[in-house]
Amino acid sequence: MRTRRLTGDQDGVDAAARILKAGGLVALPTETVYGLAADAENAAAVAAIFTAKGRPADQPVIIHASPEQAPVYARIWSEVAAKLADAFWPGPLTLVVPRSERALTQVTGGLETVGLRCPDHPVTRAVVRAVGGGLAAPSANRYGHVSPTTAAHVLNDLDGRIDAVLDAGPCDVGLESTIVELLPSQPATLLRRGGLAAEAIEKVLGSALRDGVGGPVRAPGMVRSHYAPAAPVAVVSASELKRRIAAGLAHDVLVIAPGEVGHPRSVALGDDAAFAHGLYQALRMGDDPEVAQVLVCPPASGPLLPAILDRLNRSSAPR
Ligand code: TXA
Ligand code: MG
Repeated sequence: MRTRRLTGDQDGVDAAARILKAGGLVALPTETVYGLAADAENAAAVAAIFTAKGRPADQPVIIHASPEQAPVYARIWSEVAAKLADAFWPGPLTLVVPRSERALTQVTGGLETVGLRCPDHPVTRAVVRAVGGGLAAPSANRYGHVSPTTAAHVLNDLDGRIDAVLDAGPCDVGLESTIVELLPSQPATLLRRGGLAAEAIEKVLGSALRDGVGGPVRAPGMVRSHYAPAAPVAVVSASELKRRIAAGLAHDVLVIAPGEVGHPRSVALGDDAAFAHGLYQALRMGDDPEVAQVLVCPPASGPLLPAILDRLNRSSAPR
């Protein structure tokens, strides 16, 4: 299969919508990461996502829709769901709610719930409008690899395996959406930390989120080893990094840190939001055969720090 390169203009939007309506796969930009989209109501198209990614078929994918349309995939759209959608959509929040019949088994991985979100990206919102229905889309990476924040990352992983990628530049946020589960007579539960800080959600809820991160089957995609480049990743504190650089760090070690560290192979990402924005791009530098190890020093604080630490734990987990 030849993977077409589409541009983030009207021609690109039209071409992407045509391919999706015909049951094809198109990688689309969102504010979080690039997603690999298929028509959410076409079972064969959704199944093709799993083949392209090499992802186990029992893992649910998120449906991307307009704020008006998302509730049609829900059997119960509670007041809390409406309130959170109203506050944060379009944006990096996925709501897991009881599924309606329109949410296919292929999308939900056989669960009785469905993940819904409205991405905050003008190009992808235009594609959603042109298709006229929801788009099922996991992150557009090979299974277990680092999520893509540019079209080049998508092509690195999926060139020749998908119909097209729509290139609208790098993603703003750089971390996947925050996932909150809303079930009848259950407190709102955080399933995945992400690009929207939990505190912001709690402020709107007026109560604390129950912590369901790392729960048994709640977010089956949250496998431990994930976000992993080819070279092994280790997370180090600022003082440990300083000590190791002073002791003489080999040239084949890549250092990712908030600021300049005085090592030739290093990336200075900045703090919190800037660190999140550049993290996946930097981790992918660990795919370079010349890199033997990646050392990451996280920022000291910030609203996105818990989500950053979650991703770093996974990318440094034993393979
Ligand atoms: O920012 C994002 O969320 C990106 C962009 C493309 O929208 N998408 C994304 O998709 O990260 P993916 O498939 O890589 O991760 C989705 C996560 C997985 O951990 C999956 O298990 C969980 O969402 N998920 C989806 N539906 C669920 C459900 N019904 N119940 C529990 N977890 C669900
Ligand atoms: Mg993913």
